[in-house]
Amino acid sequence: MLHRPRRNRRAASVRSLIRENKVTADDLIMPLFLVDGKGIEEQIPSLPVAYRRSLDKILKEIKSCIKLGLHSFILFPKIQEKYKDNLGTYSYSTDNFYLKAAKKIKAKFPQITLISDVALDPYSVDGHDGIVVNGQIINDETVAVLAQMAIAQAEAGFDIIGPSDMMDGRVEEIRNALDAAGYTERGIMSYTAKYASGFYGPFRDALDSAPVDDPSVPKDKKSYQMDPANSREASLEAELDALEGADFLMVKPAVHYMDIIRRLREEHMLPIAAYHVSGECAMLIAACEKGWLDYETVMPETLLSIKRAGADVIITYFAKAFLELTKLTKR
Ligand code: PBG
Repeated sequence: MLHRPRRNRRAASVRSLIRENKVTADDLIMPLFLVDGKGIEEQIPSLPVAYRRSLDKILKEIKSCIKLGLHSFILFPKIQEKYKDNLGTYSYSTDNFYLKAAKKIKAKFPQITLISDVALDPYSVDGHDGIVVNGQIINDETVAVLAQMAIAQAEAGFDIIGPSDMMDGRVEEIRNALDAAGYTERGIMSYTAKYASGFYGPFRDALDSAPVDDPSVPKDKKSYQMDPANSREASLEAELDALEGADFLMVKPAVHYMDIIRRLREEHMLPIAAYHVSGECAMLIAACEKGWLDYETVMPETLLSIKRAGADVIITYFAKAFLELTKLTKR
């Protein structure tokens, strides 16, 4: 037999020589959920690896993540009902606690990359990413609000603006608005191929941001998030985002959409970010809790698979847990 591929798998030292992909702290972005208040640290029941935290606890968490080598964070706010309306005006208000928190985070940790979330849903009484009029999510008026939100976030110190809303033309509008306000150096990580997925459930629990149960409001996000059946459409969205000035193209969810990650990786030169979403993390945790899967094996395997599919950047609730685990197993 001339070819025996097993020769290269014989010993751990040989396997590590030929290993093609590796996940490191440099690849990872840690999502954090912010609530107003003090001393708050509540575990999210449907996503037990994540917590809703007030700013004081977030600062502590960021510090302990930095010790593990993490340097990039994406921040999501949970907004109290009293600040919600159907235009998302609180999102760019000067007393918005999310914006104030970003300022404090960047003042304390100037070296980190802090990424924002641009969408109306946490601020919307309707629980939609855009403005709802007569049962429709209206595009252009929403985009104008998103641009205002982006400027307020840049002003607060966010390094990268993350539009997660899937409105048409928002990347260009946000780029122009940022440039006009003097924020030419702030990047845009566009949620390029964001699918209308069932895997966002625990995230909406965490932020209480699901579409409301009201007959005059669409009950799903299918008129703006993409149909899970489509892949050519992802290429179209990616082409538009690249032309509109995006700095990163994101695919979301990650695990169930690895073909899309690979497709965009091959078609574009921009960095590809993959969002390993809440439901994808939750299902893994649940199976491990039942003893049906081994957490220390499948959690790192999942992140590695996302990288192998072609992601440059992985947003995952396991970012910290992964680094804690690799530290342990290296010992
Ligand atoms: C909101 C937003 C969502 C997620 C990120 N930003 C939820 C949604 O679109 O309904 C989901 C992230 C996750 O599930 O981990 N625009």
